[in-house]
This record gives sequence, C-alpha cells and structure tokens, in this order.
Amino acid sequence: MNYIGSKYSILSYIDEVVEDFVKPKKDITFCDIFAGTGVVSKYFKEKGYNIIANDIQYFSYAIIKGIIENSTELKFEKLDKKHIDPFICLNGLAGKKGFIYKNYSLGGTKKKEFQRQYFSDENARKIDACRMKIEKWKNKSLITDSEYYYLIACLLEAADKVANTASVYEAFLKDLKSSAIKPIRIEPLELVFKNKKYEIYNKDSKELIDEIKGDILYLDPPYNNRKYDTNYHILETIALYDNPKIKGKTGTRIEDTKKSNYCVKSKAAKELEDLIKRAKFKYILLSYNDEGIISIEEIESIMKKYGNYKRYSKKHRRFKSDSTKKSKKNYTIEYIHCLEKNK
Ligand SMILES: C[S@@+](CC[C@H](N)C(=O)[O-])C[C@H]1O[C@@H](n2cnc3c(N)ncnc32)[C@H](O)[C@@H]1O
Repeated sequence: MNYIGSKYSILSYIDEVVEDFVKPKKDITFCDIFAGTGVVSKYFKEKGYNIIANDIQYFSYAIIKGIIENSTELKFEKLDKKHIDPFICLNGLAGKKGFIYKNYSLGGTKKKEFQRQYFSDENARKIDACRMKIEKWKNKSLITDSEYYYLIACLLEAADKVANTASVYEAFLKDLKSSAIKPIRIEPLELVFKNKKYEIYNKDSKELIDEIKGDILYLDPPYNNRKYDTNYHILETIALYDNPKIKGKTGTRIEDTKKSNYCVKSKAAKELEDLIKRAKFKYILLSYNDEGIISIEEIESIMKKYGNYKRYSKKHRRFKSDSTKKSKKNYTIEYIHCLEKNK
C-alpha cells in the first residue's frame, strides 16, 4: 500500500540502526506504536522478535491484526466444511449497492449533492458485497476472529489497488485511471509464521504507553499536518463498515476522535516528550525527517534529558503524492533519533 510516511523502502536502514545502536541479543520485544501498514512490524516479526503493534486508525489495526497477530496457517475450517474457499467465493460475488457504492462511485452518487468517483461502479459494488459477506461469515461464526481480520486486511489491500486517486483519499481523479478500471481481485496476503508473542492494539499512543513494556520502542509518528484520518477515510470506512455520517466533496467521515497531536505544531513536541518520559523501554528509536514540524535540535534536546542519544541519517526519495510540488526537492533526509534510556 502506498502510505504517507511508509517505511517500506527504508526497512534495511532501520535494521542497520537497530543492529548498530541496540546490538540486540535474544528474545527481543519490539514495539511499533505508530504501525500504519505494519511493514516495520512485519520486518521485525520475520527477524523473530516479539511484536507489540498499535495504531490509532481502525483500518491499520485490522491490517496488523491480520498480518502480524496471525502466525499460523489459517485453515478456514468451518467454510471448508461447507466447501467454500473464501477467496474464490469473494472474487466470484455479484456486486451489491452498499455504502461504498452509494457514496464513493459515480453511479451511486449521480443524484446526490456531491458526485464522487473513488471507485468504478463495479468495483464499489464488489467491495460492498465482499465486506458484507465477511461480516456475515463472522456473525454466523463461520470464521474465527483471526480469519475475519485477515480477510478485511486482504480486502483493504485489494480496494486500495483499484482506488481512483493520485495515492491518498483526500481527492479522487476526474476520469478513471487504468488501475481503477481493472476489476478488483482479493488475494491472500503473505503471512509470516513464527512462534513468538504478538500484541495488537488500536489506541492513542498516549493511552497505550503505560500498559506496555519491552526492549525497543520504535516511534514513527506523523511528522507534518497531513492527517491520516482524512487521507485514508475510505479505508477506515471499509474496515469499520459503520455507515458513518460523511461530509463535502470528498465524503470524509464526520468524527473528531482520531485527531493526532503529532500533526499540530504547537502540540507535537510536548506529546513526544511525554511519550518518551513514560515509556518502559530501554531503547527508543524515532523516525523523523528533515521537514517534520519538530526540529532536529528540539528532538535532540528532549531525548538527551532521558539518556544517551545518537542520530543516524539517510537521503530518501520523497513520498509520491508530494513530489509534484515544484518548489520542493525530490528527497528528504530520514533521521533515526536513538535513545538509550536511563533507568
Ligand atoms: C508515519 S505513519 C506510520 C507508517 C508506518 N511506519 C509504515 O511504514 O506503514 C504514522 C501512523 O501513526 C498513526 N497515528 C497518528 N497519531 C497517533 C497516535 N496518537 N497514536 C497512535 N497512532 C497514531 C497514524 O494513523 C499513522 O498510521
């Protein structure tokens, strides 16, 4: 998934920093408290670490429940007894005119105040049909909780691939782009099988921090005022499928509960310091780039109050949806600020 601030392309750099700064030994517990797409959690899961993963957004929670918490093969036993293969079934469903079709496709919105084309009519109907079927299977106890989140994660990934956007859901394109015309296909996501402990949460970091402890706390908070709740509102609605009240041209959810203080210049540094202060982790690693709303100097002075500090840096290609802004350079410097916390 093309996600704002995704660390997919710098996983090996994060790993090098962990190896150099932490020098991890055995049975490490790694917490990815701003997990987003879960790629960092997945990487360290593959390395055999115990993982704590969290995100304030429910769609992210569904993804990390699906791909991080699940660590044995999913058998879909009850569906299997009925000779149903979930993927063949979902991909073969006839479309339904549900919330996504009615609010985010041209056909569904043509008589409404705002016309929207986030998906082709056919794909929007298919997303609705799949989402309803997954819910029905869960309500009839035909799938386990693990299978439920896994299927939602697969549906989110598939829906995102056919979304008619430049990359985020802040706006849709006027005409259907070629990837949005293709029929949606729900494919099984790769799972990593390891025998370690996995804890998954859907909380604000400042509520979770007192409840967890471990060795490495990896922080990858939003670094500017681009908000994840509005940029990914449709994924949130597909995951929750809660018929939300929506507003305006883009059809964003009307809710104020998932606003992140890390997106607000006057609040971000205080929020970060509070988290660091309360964290019960020996090592804290913060990913933040040179265009973040908290300055490097401020981060350094906060971290130095709590122990030994070291900073790593690397040039990184800019996130796709930002690169067209002519005034900006096409790379950023990705810093990893590291702290070994005093006892
Ligand atoms: C930079 S992204 C993380 C990207 C992730 N590392 C990846 O590679 O996909 C920041 C994430 O923090 C989440 N977030 C923002 N404020 C939060 C908070 N207060 N508590 C928990 N998660 C939060 C956002 O929903 C978003 O997914």
